[in-house]
Amino acid sequence: MILTRRTLLGAVAVASFAAAIPAFAAKPLVMGFSQVGAESEWRTANTASIKDAAKKAGITLKFADAQQRQENQVKAIRSFIAQHVDVIAFSPVVESGWDTVLREAKAARIPVILTDRAVNVADKSLYVSFIGSDFVEEGRRAARWLLDYAKKNPAKQFNIVELQGTVGSAPAIDRKNGFQEVIAGNPKLKIIRSQTGDFTRAKGKEVMEAFLKSEGKNINVLYAHNDDMAIGAIQAIEEAGLKPGKDIIVVSIDGVKGAFEAMMQGKLNVTVECSPLLGPQLMQLAQDVVAGKPVPKRITVEEGVFPAEVAAKEFPNRKY
Ligand code: AHR
Repeated sequence: MILTRRTLLGAVAVASFAAAIPAFAAKPLVMGFSQVGAESEWRTANTASIKDAAKKAGITLKFADAQQRQENQVKAIRSFIAQHVDVIAFSPVVESGWDTVLREAKAARIPVILTDRAVNVADKSLYVSFIGSDFVEEGRRAARWLLDYAKKNPAKQFNIVELQGTVGSAPAIDRKNGFQEVIAGNPKLKIIRSQTGDFTRAKGKEVMEAFLKSEGKNINVLYAHNDDMAIGAIQAIEEAGLKPGKDIIVVSIDGVKGAFEAMMQGKLNVTVECSPLLGPQLMQLAQDVVAGKPVPKRITVEEGVFPAEVAAKEFPNRKY
């Protein structure tokens, strides 16, 4: 029998291995973490935060990069189960298709923590907690900023192109819904084209080029589900001979340093914050879960909205 912290805690609960406790209690907690990939500046900061926080908390981290593929995440989770880790954490690339592998983790009595993105499972007991941003609210905040802007420019009609995140991912679904909820019924604000840019700069640029080709000067707003796609699209706008931030208003989400730099250059109008710095809270949560303490099912993160006017002042405070 392989003795892990979990089996040990079970043994402690039934009482008789008390003499063995000090030796095993000193063993570091082992976390298996399956990361989405390295698709954006946000993700790089998220990975750094998780690795750094694990080190500081004395947690042994088994880290797997899924390169944006769900099958790689499923494989990684199965491998963590086979290795009898104490806790599994992961940021699911898409929302659906997790029931089977999460049932396997539950059967192996390994607690699962979701970070950053949600899963769509009927049985909520398949994960113990979910820590991450409220993506619907982020979409609403982006749209509210645009509504305010529209009120200040009443004569104008706003033709919006939308760069969506990864198809089927929680942030893409939620940010689209939140944005639409706020602009719904407003005849001045209309999404004329919407396509995925997979959260990457390269794809953001490619899709924006296609938008500009088909819609040309008809476009006056870009809503990008993340800063990286916005930054890629800004390049496409400039290459088309237009001024991002002026000819085309650019609204995006994340609040990475690259977005602040673009705002300081007048090329991006606003970024809605989505914090990737989840590492310290995740490690604390993992320790509490493994220790058997009650934990909240949902933990959200406090975030702000940064328009271009405050970019220069805020830039020195940015941590990612
Ligand atoms: O899940 C969070 C999103 O994933 C971030 O907004 C985006 O930049 C990342 O790739």
